[in-house]
Amino acid sequence: MHLYQMSSKLFGDTVGRMNDNLTSIVLAASVITLTLGYISKMLLKQSSVSVRNKYPPYIPSSIPFLGHAIAFGKSPIEFLEQAYDKYGPVFSFTMVGKTFTYLLGSEAATLLFNSKNEDLNAEDVYSRLTTPVFGKGVAYDVPNPIFLEQKKMLKTGLNIAHFKEHVKIIEAETIEYFQRWGDSGERNLFEALSELIILTASSCLHGKEIRSMLNERVAQLYADLDGGFSHAAWLLPGWLPLPSFRKRDKAHREIKNIFFKVIQKRRRSGEKVDDILQTLIDATYKDGRPLNDNEIAGMLIGLLLAGQHTSSTTSAWMGFFLARDKALQERCYAEQRAVCGDDLPPLNFDQLKDLSLLERCLKETLRLRPPIMTMMRMARSPQTAAGYTIPVGHQVCVSPTVNHRLHDTWAERMEFNPERYLNDNLAAGEKFAYVPFGAGRHRCIGENFAYVQIKTIWSTLLRMYDFDLVDGYFPTINYTTMIHTPHNPVIRYKKRKQ
Ligand code: HEM
Repeated sequence: MHLYQMSSKLFGDTVGRMNDNLTSIVLAASVITLTLGYISKMLLKQSSVSVRNKYPPYIPSSIPFLGHAIAFGKSPIEFLEQAYDKYGPVFSFTMVGKTFTYLLGSEAATLLFNSKNEDLNAEDVYSRLTTPVFGKGVAYDVPNPIFLEQKKMLKTGLNIAHFKEHVKIIEAETIEYFQRWGDSGERNLFEALSELIILTASSCLHGKEIRSMLNERVAQLYADLDGGFSHAAWLLPGWLPLPSFRKRDKAHREIKNIFFKVIQKRRRSGEKVDDILQTLIDATYKDGRPLNDNEIAGMLIGLLLAGQHTSSTTSAWMGFFLARDKALQERCYAEQRAVCGDDLPPLNFDQLKDLSLLERCLKETLRLRPPIMTMMRMARSPQTAAGYTIPVGHQVCVSPTVNHRLHDTWAERMEFNPERYLNDNLAAGEKFAYVPFGAGRHRCIGENFAYVQIKTIWSTLLRMYDFDLVDGYFPTINYTTMIHTPHNPVIRYKKRKQ
């Protein structure tokens, strides 16, 4: 407007001074042409600024502050799918006073996965949940380059030599744990797998000293600590005197003290055990500084909890998919015999790798039930996606669950079909169509361990039992938990005749 007024004035003044003199006319014409040129250039520039600042479509809500929290909380996937159909791959909405912008589909997700942490920041959204649980000095409590170094140290410990040992440990823990199930019955599969996975993860990721201390009291401490991963912790200020916050903080202190003693004992003994704890004791940052006991203890907590819910939910869902499709279950059992031998000897890592049908079943479980439903970042600088500008302060999200079932990408998208990976499929050509472990700088380091763990558990269980749904009930999804767990996850089982 300001520019428009200035140029009209210039135009009027020029015409006013004009006389019949031809020179004046030519001069005036030149001035007018130049002025019009200038105006149109400025207007063009202005319109390109406004295109750049076109914000993503906003889903309106009549409920102040809460916004879409209720609809989203009830059925987040349906909410996002409907929004995708109506608004396209990028849209924003408000929940509990925060604005979320979702990037759905492989192309839109590129922004989040390729971004720098300074632009789309993970600490800003995750730290309030993770720092009270893992403690200070690790993960999202430190600048991302330091966390990346810590991830590298952990990755060094998650190597093939260790996995070979892990297979034996996990098989033994599974056989031991399921003794209590007897020959047949109906039991809560998710509960059992959650308990089992604390034991296997503690043995494999923490080492034999910490595993040997894992009794009911310590299991309760883990449960209290884990209670820190709640919607309340995410939404409410950390200083509130909530019982769950207090339990979390007390459990954190007690577990750290247990870990400190083990770390110090290991350091003093000079014994070199080849496990992840030793990898961390021996690790150094790029500048040569070794990890201190607090960092090691925090990383051990992080390792256990990062893999706990993700692996237990995935394993439980996989059990229900196999129980629902008996023919597939039988093929998986036959694969055990074909790959490992008819007498089904103890598992080993090389055979585990060859169990390709079981592997595809796990891959397909992670497609339809990826435990991390949404990855989030805080926009610290304006970001562009699909021609829209996402302003600073938006929580930018990618949902593996939605990407994994997008109708544009996946044929028979809701079918559990492990064979889909053997055929040509559209999804294989899209970089971020399948992202259960994330991508980019925040990508999961636990993928290989998770595959070893879940494949070993299910190999052992398939050899022990034949599974069925109870009266045809396939669990619905419990959306109230941060990781989408199965509702009423009871399974029927019967010992196999060897
Ligand atoms: C089925 C099992 C698992 C699934 C589906 C899973 C999924 C994920 C996803 C989606 C991310 C990316 C998060 C983001 O970008 O915001 C991630 C990151 C991570 N995961 Fe896992 N995870 C699993 C198991 C594990 C295990 C067993 C460990 C440790 C042994 C682990 C350790 C980590 C770590 C350290 C990160 C890095 C976070 C970051 O850099 O910001 N995960 N995981």
